[in-house]
Amino acid sequence: MVSDELPCPEEELPVNVPYHVAIIMDGNGRWAQSRGLPRQAGHEAGTENLRRIIRACVEFGVKVLTIYAFSTENWGRPRWEIRALLHILENVIDKELNELYAEGVQLRHLGELDRLPAGLQRKVRRAIERTQHNDRLIVNVAFNYGGRDEIVRAVQHIVAEGVPANEITEDLISSHLYTAGLPDPDLIIRTSGEQRISNFLIWQGAYSEHFYTPVLWPDFDREEFRKALVAFGVRERRFGTLEPHRN
Ligand code: IPE
Ligand code: IPE
Ligand code: MG
Repeated sequence: MVSDELPCPEEELPVNVPYHVAIIMDGNGRWAQSRGLPRQAGHEAGTENLRRIIRACVEFGVKVLTIYAFSTENWGRPRWEIRALLHILENVIDKELNELYAEGVQLRHLGELDRLPAGLQRKVRRAIERTQHNDRLIVNVAFNYGGRDEIVRAVQHIVAEGVPANEITEDLISSHLYTAGLPDPDLIIRTSGEQRISNFLIWQGAYSEHFYTPVLWPDFDREEFRKALVAFGVRERRFGTLEPHRN
């Protein structure tokens, strides 16, 4: 850990730490553009930043981290950018898997692998298998993920299973989503100043708290993350009732 990431004695540590944090990692392109660099350099810097945030999750006691890395709509970007993003995912698996494994991270994937190159699909599956018994931090990587697509696929499976209409419940739908078995996100963070969900966890996020910051994703470091968790800690959640709910 580098020295600027060490907590200072007077720093306020988060209380009521969210169990599940989901992040829309936005602003890589603008980060690169503002430095006169190609967009790809922003994606690389953003990937580098992810290590810091994974470490910070372990430090602060977050148990599930879901990161939005590539949406079903991102296929509409130029081919070179898509290729660069696929390449980065492959590189992360090749270079970081041993360390993630050693840190106790369990990797999961949200989305469909079918549109990815066959070799990359195999690597993702192997990474999931290798880390499946880790339990320090679950990291869900949403890649080729779309919330609407996820719900459509869940409904298709339910229909294919022949479930009668009157047996379709919220729990049944939840259990057919990619996040089956995991609690809903307590906090959704979006960097880069945009204030929208962009098709991310639209079912699971029904009662999530939102935190928006103008900071671009590659600059969203441990300190910015700590501030987001501190802000979450003083929110009062009511889930439609009159009772404040303790996180
Ligand atoms: C987020 O950064 C990463 C992905 C969507 C893959 P962007 O690439 O959207 O960066 P901006 O929004 O153009 O700055
Ligand atoms: C959302 O960011 C998707 C990811 C961070 C992977 P976008 O940059 O694609 O979203 P829009 O287009 O601004 O809504
Ligand atoms: Mg963007």
